[in-house]
Amino acid sequence: SIPDTVAEPVTAAQTDAQKISKEVTILYGSQTGNAQGVAENAARTLKGKDFQVTVSSMSDYKVNNLKKVENLLIIVSTHGEGDPPDNTISFHEFLHGRRASRLDDLRFSVLALGDSSYEFFCETGKQFDKRLEELGGTRIFPRMDCDLDYDEPAAEWLEGVISSLSKVQGNTVSPVIEPLAQTAETTYSRTNPFKAEVLENINLNGRGSNKETRHVELSLEGSGITFQPGDSLGIYPQNDSALVDMLLHELDWDPEEMVKVNKQGDLQPFREALISNFDITVLTKSLLEQAAAISGSEELKALVSPENEAKLKEYRKGRDLLDVIRDFGSWGGSAQEFVSILRKMPARLYSIANSLSAYPDEVHLTIGAVRYESHGRERKGVCSILCAERLQPGDKLPVYIQHNQNFKQPVDGNTPIIMIGPGTGVAPFRSFIQEREETEASGKTWLFFGDQHFVTDFLYQTEWQKWLETGALTKMDVAFSRDTDEKVYVQNRMLEHSDELFRWLQEGAAIYICGDEKNMAHDVHHTLIGIIEKEGRMSHADAQAYLDDMQQNKRYQRDVY
Ligand code: 2AM
Repeated sequence: SIPDTVAEPVTAAQTDAQKISKEVTILYGSQTGNAQGVAENAARTLKGKDFQVTVSSMSDYKVNNLKKVENLLIIVSTHGEGDPPDNTISFHEFLHGRRASRLDDLRFSVLALGDSSYEFFCETGKQFDKRLEELGGTRIFPRMDCDLDYDEPAAEWLEGVISSLSKVQGNTVSPVIEPLAQTAETTYSRTNPFKAEVLENINLNGRGSNKETRHVELSLEGSGITFQPGDSLGIYPQNDSALVDMLLHELDWDPEEMVKVNKQGDLQPFREALISNFDITVLTKSLLEQAAAISGSEELKALVSPENEAKLKEYRKGRDLLDVIRDFGSWGGSAQEFVSILRKMPARLYSIANSLSAYPDEVHLTIGAVRYESHGRERKGVCSILCAERLQPGDKLPVYIQHNQNFKQPVDGNTPIIMIGPGTGVAPFRSFIQEREETEASGKTWLFFGDQHFVTDFLYQTEWQKWLETGALTKMDVAFSRDTDEKVYVQNRMLEHSDELFRWLQEGAAIYICGDEKNMAHDVHHTLIGIIEKEGRMSHADAQAYLDDMQQNKRYQRDVY
């Protein structure tokens, strides 16, 4: 309801209103930049409502200042298997540790970002929410857990927070929330992607390789879009129409029947909607629960019942919507009901492989084609296979830039950098070196690259060789894992050069890791600790502290997936 704007005499409530704290601290923890974006938008909206806002990354925040905070908003994503993002680890540990002091005067609210296809959905946000309550804080507004499509719930949460912050003795100042603000230099954003034309799309691997890695170049001409090395590109892909047709074959509805594809009620033919608007390849728990409710299948109902939790988790692995339909029969209800249980098509993020100064108005990507077999059917990565099998020069892809403050070159071009990027993980380093060439950065650079075979899988080989000649690249060590009887990985090469690597660290070098998280980045992390321990003659704990300190000072950054 809109408050009456007619002038009224000053009341007790209004005098109290002036005493209400208008100070708000927003702390965010972001791995890929989503939480940071939401935090910055929230800060802008709150400032527009005359709140005094402090907004900071958890990594830059002095924990002792928490005692003085009255209103705290936490916006945090969850990484991997329920882990906090890299740059929130120390804040997270401190707050959950014994040294954290009581926060009895604190008022807080948590916005948790996550992906509901993971088991520990929004875990980090849940932990903060619980811990702040344990420490004595009071909730301004209940925690909200957001799935990949977070814009609407985030706006709803902010509206709730503002309304609660503005509440005075039963009088509500009803907040008017503007749509999330856009970045200044372009009108394009995650919610309004730019249709970028494909300029080039080639396979970087040679004949006979086990891999297919696409090098895709897109045009940003006319968009006003800018980015920095280390940023990522979000792509909204389309589902494979062959997969959609197999689905339609199992379902009784007319492919041309019009269905609503969003809350605004935009209509599209059912088949089109399945191709462009919905996620049909990932089974979240919530999808199966809703499917059970509308399908009428007793078997599916049993599968989603609480006592079958482990069974359900197992079932979701390596299966998609087509399996559910084949396994549990066809559906009652309508096509509209069916699409209403599906997640909106999430964007896929890729680390950008070029520098904008080196290639004005272009964005380059290095995309590994994902193909595997499971449960008797060949499975294909939605976006990578679109790029590998269907995307032609001249086609257009809806894209946006995801700024990533957690993967940035040192501001000082004299600082040496060590880059570890096997496989497609090499992408951002191509961008780093191009940018350094353009800006004539003089610090030393060292690249560790690895892949299966030298002959077929040495991504961008001629470019690295050229940069070794020009000096843009000081050193390069490669590990081809399947050319020898015994596997060699990037971390083996790091160990072979451990003395020199440690010397670079002592000289102030920054380390970057990009690529596979579970195996590679994990092993490389432990190799680094080992190297510091050995070469620095430190205890294991001191070596860990050395690397933690580097991370805290942004000299150890990861872009892992
Ligand atoms: P593999 O395929 O022979 O196991 C890029 O994918 C490169 O990373 C490949 O050479 C791959 O080797 C390698 N790789 C696989 N697991 C790794 C790990 N735990 N650490 C480092 N590199 C790894």
